[in-house]
Amino acid sequence: MTHSTASPATGGEWWRNAAVYQIYIRSFADGNGDGVGDVAGLRARLPYLRDLGVDAVWINPWYESPMADGGYDVADFRRIDPVLGTGEEGAAFVAEAHEHGLRVILDIVPNHVSDRHAWFRAALASGPGSPERERFLFRDGRGPGGDEPPNGWRAAFGGPAWTRTTDPDGTPGQWYLHLFAPEQPDLNWDHPQVRAEFESILRFWFDQGVDGFRIDVAHGLVKHPDLPDFAVHEHDQHLTADGGEHPHADRDGVHDIYRAWRAIADEYEGDRVFAAEAWVSDPARLARYLRPDELHTAFNFHYLEAPWRAKAMRAAIDDSFAALGPIGAPATWVLSNHDVVRHVSRFGRPGHAQGKSLGMVRDTPVDLELGTRRARAAALLTLGLPGSAYLYQGEELGLWEVEDLPPEVLQDPTWERSGHTDPGRDGCRVPLPWSGQEPPFGFGGARPWLPQPAAWRDLTVEHEDARPDSMLNLYRAALRIRRTEPGLAGAEMAWVDAPEGVLAFERGDGVRCVVNFADEPHPLPEGAEVLLSSAPVEGGRLPGDAAVWLRLR
Ligand code: NOJ
Repeated sequence: MTHSTASPATGGEWWRNAAVYQIYIRSFADGNGDGVGDVAGLRARLPYLRDLGVDAVWINPWYESPMADGGYDVADFRRIDPVLGTGEEGAAFVAEAHEHGLRVILDIVPNHVSDRHAWFRAALASGPGSPERERFLFRDGRGPGGDEPPNGWRAAFGGPAWTRTTDPDGTPGQWYLHLFAPEQPDLNWDHPQVRAEFESILRFWFDQGVDGFRIDVAHGLVKHPDLPDFAVHEHDQHLTADGGEHPHADRDGVHDIYRAWRAIADEYEGDRVFAAEAWVSDPARLARYLRPDELHTAFNFHYLEAPWRAKAMRAAIDDSFAALGPIGAPATWVLSNHDVVRHVSRFGRPGHAQGKSLGMVRDTPVDLELGTRRARAAALLTLGLPGSAYLYQGEELGLWEVEDLPPEVLQDPTWERSGHTDPGRDGCRVPLPWSGQEPPFGFGGARPWLPQPAAWRDLTVEHEDARPDSMLNLYRAALRIRRTEPGLAGAEMAWVDAPEGVLAFERGDGVRCVVNFADEPHPLPEGAEVLLSSAPVEGGRLPGDAAVWLRLR
């Protein structure tokens, strides 16, 4: 079977096959020594990213925020949080990234704002029925005295999706909707001011040269006008749409918003792009976000969620091409991000325990050596496929999930809101180890905001740089070959027959990628030249849990 995602990247459509590096800025590099990563640290490490060989960076929200949800509670979209830097530093960063040949993607959070945002403060101060409240979803409560929430919707981090306000005279007032934490009130996207404000925010950053936006909760903006009751899964932090009509996920109305956004991006020079974070379980529904007049790409969470098994991986790949091929949108591939258990720790769980959240998997023992071997193979699979790839900071070092953070340091709202049953996402957000023998491993500052494990001494950039067989050097080589090998440049791939437990596909020019998910070594075609392999190929055989890029003679 042959897949084609779209016409090859011509005319500078860089996003069709870009490698995008995700920067969780608070944990990337600390330039001012306060224990929190910042723009100064990021600027200083730009040469590292250039040498790694990625095409673009996506930065998690850097806007002014009280940090109730790691910056996804934005108080002012036009200002960089003072803990992270200044507007001037941000502008300098964008210019320097461009000088290094790197594009810059910011994170836009349109579903909700911080409860400290000027609009929400005005809404609370202005009282029921006021125009200020119209920009949010305020409702009277149900039951005697309005003591019960307006409906039974649940919040992604646990608990009800409604919080009751207190009126200025101290009596209990209306309730407001928050699909995430109470500090993140949802905006009312039926309100023209909300639409106009976000269009203006996009222009503000596009005017500064930013190349695109990752759209947070892209499937969640529009709500059913009646806010009807509906059973949503408790603790589904992504508010996945399961198909069928859902009162707040993947509603048809979101597409009008993105058509308007696309028109704005298209006014600007130089291929400005959008990438949707849309947790929509049906690939055909996800493809609707990528119609030619809507968004450019969307994260492929089916791939991220697939267990380390040939059949499951192949199905995720096939489904993605089947949905995207007809509309000419490129596939995307992602293994980890700041919301899920790092994939070394997912793939290292025998029995393929593949839960996204630490709470779901932590009772299953983990084998980090196995996880690392599989993560190396997964890197070659991911970077060998046509389309764009998203790499989460630290995966190029083989970092694993820190599963034993002491409860007192946890900051993810999931921990509190789940009643201390799920530690949440801090374990994948621990600051990067750069150099040296002990924490803070060159991150900067004496004490990083989350403690790093001592065992990361073998996973620092400095340590791995010096070892030809390190994860870092595997990623560097893979990204270099992906850029320079003409066979990997096109948008096509074709499956090649392979025994059970093995996936093999060809790209252009006789380049073949083989991934062995089985335990037994797999014989490779005779005389093939090994371009890159995740584990040593001996006697022409690819070991289990390994992958190789070959050039066939
Ligand atoms: C998805 C983001 O990736 C996650 O970190 C955040 O908590 C929610 N959206 C809410 O903004």
